[in-house]
Amino acid sequence: MTIGLQDGTRADPATRVIDVAAERSRTAGTAGRHYFNAAGAGLVSDGVLEAVVAHLRREQRVGGYEAANEAADDVAAVYTSAAALLGARADEIALFDSATSGLRGVFDALRLGAGDTVIAPRSSYVSQALRLLAMQRHDDVRLVVVPNDASGAMDLEVLERAVAGASGRVVVSAVHVPTSSGLVEPIAEVSAIARRHGAWTVVDATQSVGQIDIDVTAVDCDALVTTGRKFLRGPRGTGLAYLRRGTLEGLGAWAPDVRGAVWTGEDEWTMDGTARQLETWECSVASRLGLGVALREALDRGPAATEAHLVALGSRIRAALAEIDGVTVADPPASPSAIVTFTVDGLVGKEVSTRLRTRRIDSIAVPASHAQWDLGTRGLPSVVRVSPHVYNDDEDVRVLLDGVAEVATEARS
Ligand SMILES: Cc1ncc(COP(=O)(O)O)c(C=O)c1O
Repeated sequence: MTIGLQDGTRADPATRVIDVAAERSRTAGTAGRHYFNAAGAGLVSDGVLEAVVAHLRREQRVGGYEAANEAADDVAAVYTSAAALLGARADEIALFDSATSGLRGVFDALRLGAGDTVIAPRSSYVSQALRLLAMQRHDDVRLVVVPNDASGAMDLEVLERAVAGASGRVVVSAVHVPTSSGLVEPIAEVSAIARRHGAWTVVDATQSVGQIDIDVTAVDCDALVTTGRKFLRGPRGTGLAYLRRGTLEGLGAWAPDVRGAVWTGEDEWTMDGTARQLETWECSVASRLGLGVALREALDRGPAATEAHLVALGSRIRAALAEIDGVTVADPPASPSAIVTFTVDGLVGKEVSTRLRTRRIDSIAVPASHAQWDLGTRGLPSVVRVSPHVYNDDEDVRVLLDGVAEVATEARS
């Protein structure tokens, strides 16, 4: 089941048309529902499911270690596919069980302490923001939260001043697409500013990989982390990170694990020089194989074509929602992603989402507690988030828009 991709290569005609009917026919979850929660967890394809289940069956039959040995080529292909998708090398990829564990691994390894600085955007995700706040509180790391410009994205002039004036070792904890809006942050510009001043850039691309075409060489970041289950459409409990070769030079994993370290003597060990030094030995091989299938499907579909399709779909939904009485689109101007957020007059987000679910429409409410620096500052207790993927057809969109209009009308009466 290995694929013939070389590290960092991919064939990706941006003009390729996404075959929505074919995507639906290989995604059982599209039957009978109108699923708009890819930003929560995208629907996995039948092929992803089969890969996971087949490996679990094999583990039951021959044992976990033996099944892993049999699947060694397919596991290796997960790294190659991830590298191909991101424009990286396979040895710059580490696999995790979530984006959060990937971000933890990277930030732990950077070993920031008193006098060092982390700079973050207002679009930071709750778990990363809390991690940075905890570093500020417990480790005396200086935290700078950069305000937005008029477009709603990170103000690059303020960022440049913050990086230039920062003390100690400096890390920009960047976000590509947040959990709380369709914003797309200018990560290449953010990275370029950081690099000009000798700072590191770690990108949280959890909501963008699988949705937006990313080439880490063009972005020029030091690390980039994502989850498997969202726009990549992998199984839950998977995540991956790109770690540029040499980033951890002289540092090494904060918590060496037998996966990436060799215990060579009484008090000596050596580290695997690759990104895998951040991994742990134990993992769900079945889930990783499922992630491998999802990555191959993303590559086959074409990252640039997928981006064009999803961005157009998001814009179409956003524009149509804006026309509905009692509905206010909550996305800031710099929001061309497939994530669309809105509010309905008179109803909290959770109530809107619950009412949509009775119409077999899956959306989610994002509370301010998941994005205090964004929704909290904008005075929004919650927003409703819809996030389509390539398996959503015109009928799904029609049902969604009618459903939201009905809910808005109910709220007024
Ligand atoms: C922008 C962003 N970053 C990070 C995360 C955390 O991902 P995970 O749940 O895989 O740790 C999320 C989850 O929703 C997210 O939206």
